[in-house]
This record gives sequence, C-alpha cells and structure tokens, in this order.
Amino acid sequence: MKIPREVIEEIIRRNDITQVVGTYVTLKPAGSNMVGLCPFHSENSPSFTVFGSDDHFYCFGCGTGGDVITFIMKMENVDYPTALEMLAKRAGVEIPQTADDRFADRGVKRERVLKMNEAAARFFRHCLTKEPCGEEARQYFKKRGLSEGISKQFYLGYAPNDFGKLTNYLKNLGYTEEEMIAGFLCGKSQKTGRAYDYFRNRVIFPIVDTSRNIVAFGGRVMDDSKPKYLNSSDTPAFKKSKNLFALNYAKGFCADQLILCEGYMDVISLHQAGFPNAVATLGTAITEEHARIISRYTKKVIISYDSDEAGQKAANKAMLLLGKVGVEVRVLKMQGAKDPDEFIKKKGADAFRALLNESRTGFEYKLEAVTGKYDISLVENKRRAADELASIISDYHSTVERELYSKRAGEVLGISTDAIRTDAERIRMKKIRELNNDQNREAHASLRQYSNKVNPDAAKNLRASYAEETLLGLMMIYPEYREGILRGDYELSANDFFTAFGKRVFDAIMDLEQNGGYVYSLLGEFFNPDEMSALEDMQLRRRSLAENGPEVFNASADVLKSEMRKQIAEVTGGQSLEDKLAEKRRKLEEARKKRGE
Ligand code: CTP
Ligand code: MN
Repeated sequence: MKIPREVIEEIIRRNDITQVVGTYVTLKPAGSNMVGLCPFHSENSPSFTVFGSDDHFYCFGCGTGGDVITFIMKMENVDYPTALEMLAKRAGVEIPQTADDRFADRGVKRERVLKMNEAAARFFRHCLTKEPCGEEARQYFKKRGLSEGISKQFYLGYAPNDFGKLTNYLKNLGYTEEEMIAGFLCGKSQKTGRAYDYFRNRVIFPIVDTSRNIVAFGGRVMDDSKPKYLNSSDTPAFKKSKNLFALNYAKGFCADQLILCEGYMDVISLHQAGFPNAVATLGTAITEEHARIISRYTKKVIISYDSDEAGQKAANKAMLLLGKVGVEVRVLKMQGAKDPDEFIKKKGADAFRALLNESRTGFEYKLEAVTGKYDISLVENKRRAADELASIISDYHSTVERELYSKRAGEVLGISTDAIRTDAERIRMKKIRELNNDQNREAHASLRQYSNKVNPDAAKNLRASYAEETLLGLMMIYPEYREGILRGDYELSANDFFTAFGKRVFDAIMDLEQNGGYVYSLLGEFFNPDEMSALEDMQLRRRSLAENGPEVFNASADVLKSEMRKQIAEVTGGQSLEDKLAEKRRKLEEARKKRGE
C-alpha cells in the first residue's frame, strides 16, 4: 500500500462527507440524513442520501454509493490514490512521498499525464513561436486574424510534421511510451509496437481545466484535408463529456450569461473580440454532464452554434438539456455568416453584441420556425402549426413561460390562448408520465446491469447470492461478526461463498480485520466505484433490525451451505464434499475466464 493507513484514516476524519458533497450538491436535512439531487443521474426529486449514521452516501435512484473517497472518484473521474490526494490537499493532510512512488503499480497516474501534457504544450508552443518549421502555422493563425496576445493566452502551438520529435522530447524528460500512449500524445505502431507522435503538422489547441491543468489537446489541419480536427480521447486526465473549452477563463465572466459555441476557433475569436464568457464543448455534442457543470457557473446560456441545419439541430438538443437543469436558454440567430468566428470577422464585435442583446428566447425562435413552415392562411395548416406549438410549449418547465408563450402563439395563429394552453398542458402531463416511466425503466435496467457487471455469478443462484449479501453486509457494519469469524464462532470461510465477487469481498474484509483492523474506506483500494456501490447496497438493508442479528447471520450461512450442496448434487456423482466444492469453484472460475474477466 502506497499511502499508509493512518494517513488514509486521517484524510477521512478530516473530510466531512456532507461538506465535501456539499460543494457539488445542495443538501437539505431529512431526519438524521441529508438529501439532494443526485449528481450521477438526472432527477427532479432528491434520492441522493448522505447518511448521518456512518458518513456513507447512496442514491436510491441510480444505486451509486460509497464513502467520501468513492464520491470523489466518481465525481472527478479519478482513481483511488488520486481521490485521496485531492482530499488530503483539501484538508491539509500531508501524504508522505517515496521516491519510487511515481510508478505506482496501478498504471499511469493522472499527475504524470498532467506534467507530461505541460511539457508537450511547451514543446508545441516553442515550435509555433521559435522554430523554422512553425512558419506555416504562424501564417495560418495570422490569416485567421489571431493576435499575438490571444495566441499567448490560449497557449496555441504547432505540432511539427514528424513522427518522432515530440516522442523523443518527452522520452528525454523521462516519460515512458506507456505514459505517452495513455495520455493520447502518441499512437502505437501496429507493426513495431512503438510509440509515434499522434499530432503531426497541425496547429494545436491545448485544453485547460478549471484548475488550470492542461488536460488534453485538439489539433487542426491547416488546409482542407481530413480529418479537420483531431482531439485527445479520454485519458487518465481527461473526460470529453465533462470538459468545456475555455471554461477556465469564462468561469470568471459568466455569472450573468454564458455563450456556448461549437468550435475552438469560435471561442478564441469571441475572447479576442471582448467576449470572455464564451465556451465550447470538445468535438462532441453537449452532454447531461456538460449541462450540469454549466448550471454551476451561470443562470443563462446563449447558444451560438453554426447556422447550418446540423448546428440548429444541435442547438435544439442543447436547449433541452440546459432547460432540464434549470438554466435559461436563448438561441442566437446569425445571418450571413456560418459561425460566430466568421460573423465577427465580417461584421465586427459590436454587431455581435447587438445580436446578443436581441437574441430571441428559445420560444420566439421556434415560433418563427413553425410559422415559416406552414402557410397558415389554410385552416388545416393552422391546426398543424397549433399542434406543434402546443407540443413545444409543453416542454417549458415554468408555468409563467407556458402561459406567455400560449398567449403569443394564440396571437400569431389567431386562436384563443385557452385552446393552446389546454392542449399544451395535456401534452405536458402525457410527456411527464412517459418520462417517469422511462426513467424508472432506465434506473432499474442500469441497476440490474450494474449488479450483473459487478457480480455476474449472482444471477445463477439468487437465494445463495442474497444470503451472501446479508453475510457481507453485516460483516461490513458490525465488528462482532468479524471478530466472531476470527474466533471461530461462526462456521464460515471464504470457500463457502458462491460468487467470485462475494469471495473477494469476504477475503478483503477479513484481510483488513487481521491487519490493523477493518475500515470500510480502505476497501476502496481493492474495489472500483461500481463495486463500492454494490457494497453500499449490501449494507443498506442490513441496518434494519429485521435483517440484523446473529440468528440472521447463522441462517444466511446455512442457506449458503445448503445451496452450495444442492448445486453440487446437480452436477456431480459420488465425490467428497470438499472435492465437489473445489470443482464447483473451478467451474465458476473457468466460466469467468471465458467471459474474459
Ligand atoms: N470537430 C471535431 N472533429 C472534426 C470536425 C469538428 O472534433 N473532424 C469539432 C471541433 O471541436 C470543432 C467543432 O467540432 O471546433 C466545430 O466544427 P466546425 O464547425 O467544422 O469547425 P470550426 O470550429 O468552425 O473550425 P474552423 O473555423 O477552424 O473551420
Ligand atoms: Mn469556423
């Protein structure tokens, strides 16, 4: 173990879970617990619970749960040691570092990737500003109207037309090929297995997170060749669906309103023109995660996507997702330019500002789209338009907005407000019913799938796996069961466990118990967040009296044994019980190997 357990326990002690969770989720007291809207799935009423009794959390909607470390692992998308580091930093706990800690036995570290990215960004910057090979890139940015100042602020760069320059540079700094590949700076040759520069002959846009780490890169060709952009895929330091380009700058300027664009160049142009509140998603459509992040920084978003059909379609989706998290949304409609970058070049910053000021609410914009589509002098068309508008109005969460837009649509179509409003409300109720059904189905499906993923053997014998969960749940909560097992009070060993996952959990608990004492949070080193959620689930029910007590424990152990015997009787003839058990386990093991686990 790299971080001593005393230090881990200290980190947990000093990080109050409600405070840590409270920086991401608004929590309200509910009895002895705190509840809030789950940050891991979309919901309208709170099922995310932080328990006052033991500093664990659990979401009754999506089944995610664990302790403060698991929470950070999920929230920040980091591994166990990194989550510990972040929490240590937060609480001012010092983690003793050993010299060879850099290559911990758990693959490539986020910290290493971040350091390496910094070095790579410096390299790209140097090539753009100092090297003869950067001349074409310098001309390219100049042609696109970027000033030296903005180029420096965004730390733009150039990746030379070479397969090995960056790789060698990083190698000399002590980075391994494994790290470069994991960090998406290098590709891996099919033939030789060697690393080679991934970004070549492209201008480079470093992507910086809100803590000012360089987390990824985008690279654009300087001509019309394809693909136009290359972007880092997800790495130990980067998750596309969670990062927004330039949010590191915009976060200080967007409390009033945020401008959401499609492209890197749109954002950079806008910042240069005096709109430092512009951001873009990174080569992907906006996700629910993006929307949630945006809602933490601003109350109003102006969508400024490309004016082509694809851009407008994407704007509709963005409007929906942002509306869901309670952000006010407007859509900018540009005429005579395909995107904000081009608009500013052609018409200037003032024209863009005027556009911002008059940017329509999502509704005006849609109203125009619908009435433009039909010749509403015909009764039949008027009905179609009214149907469509009622459906559009039904999507607005605020009653006031629905009322206002019903009135507006009525005026335009020459129909009473009442007629439109009634239709809209009826459609709205229907949609809510459908949405709730969908969400329930989704939550259940994902829960099922996730318990299958964590413990695929469980489905083979529900009775046995339920007994297992009871045993393990009780063992995790109450010391008397762990102590009893050590003393031999209970007839229970790892071999009695039916599923490989259950056996692993049993071993981990007892291993900790014998080596310094069991602490729930220390399990996080051996189990990933999904597995931790499953462990949380196991403990939940066992806190109630009905599922607690030595009788329950003994009965569950008996069920486990008898189920095991039954299974064996089904598959074998006259072997000894021990042999049969061993064979049964071997079969399970094989089955798991076959599945490639
Ligand atoms: N994009 C991408 N991969 C592509 C094309 C686009 O990742 N092959 C992403 C980039 O983040 C890009 C955004 O989608 O910034 C918008 O694409 P597009 O409108 O084609 O590019 P622009 O941002 O307008 O870039 P430019 O002005 O340099 O042509
Ligand atoms: Mn463009």
